[in-house]
Amino acid sequence: MDHGLSQALRRFDRERLRAQFVEQGAFLYLDAFLPADVTARLVQSARSLEPAVNRNYLPGHKQGGSVSRHTIDRLAPHIAELYRSPALIDWLEAVTGDKLLLSPKDDPHAYALYYYTREGDHIGWHYDTSYYDGRRYTLLVGVIDESSCRLDYELHTRTPGATAIPGSIQYPPGSIVLFDGDKLRHRITPSKANEMRVSLTFEYVTDARMRPWRRLISNMKDAIAYFGFRQVFRARGAARTDQGTP
Ligand SMILES: [Fe+2]
Repeated sequence: MDHGLSQALRRFDRERLRAQFVEQGAFLYLDAFLPADVTARLVQSARSLEPAVNRNYLPGHKQGGSVSRHTIDRLAPHIAELYRSPALIDWLEAVTGDKLLLSPKDDPHAYALYYYTREGDHIGWHYDTSYYDGRRYTLLVGVIDESSCRLDYELHTRTPGATAIPGSIQYPPGSIVLFDGDKLRHRITPSKANEMRVSLTFEYVTDARMRPWRRLISNMKDAIAYFGFRQVFRARGAARTDQGTP
């Protein structure tokens, strides 16, 4: 897979995209990014993972489903392989201008699928706040979009002295949105009845350390808002055990 991706990513002018990323306040959208065979496999997995979706509802903020990295590791490991792809990471580093690290083993957001399958599924305005000591980059990958949902966003809300610039897109299968989580204010608008939308999220960091109190906040948020207590705390317990095992 890495070889195919590496070939496909050669068609992009990295310097031009880097300039565009900076100019847009650490944000870039590309409507055709992944090779067709990689996208097709993601679509297939997104459909087959539907029974494993964890549904969440936070009144006034979000409603939807998600499949965490722990489930992906068990049932669709090719997604984890894509997340770790050296060709992809090399390209992301060129565009962000940062040395990127994989998110730690116990972070369920490292790679996850988000499902909008019922009427009203959405997420309100937010930032992908970094609880790490370094920056946190989000890469959204379009997988399935049979919906009217839109990614609304505002560029430059945290650029000193700048005027915020609003935007709105629907990102089709194989497209990507890349941004610095602390800089892009964004939301997904509510889905209508009988619509389906699945988005894949990859998270990369520049410093994987996290202060203990931030870890507690992050864990609680993940358990309540995304993956459920069992996924977050059992998996984290397991990860700690792993680290203690030679
Ligand atoms: Fe987000």
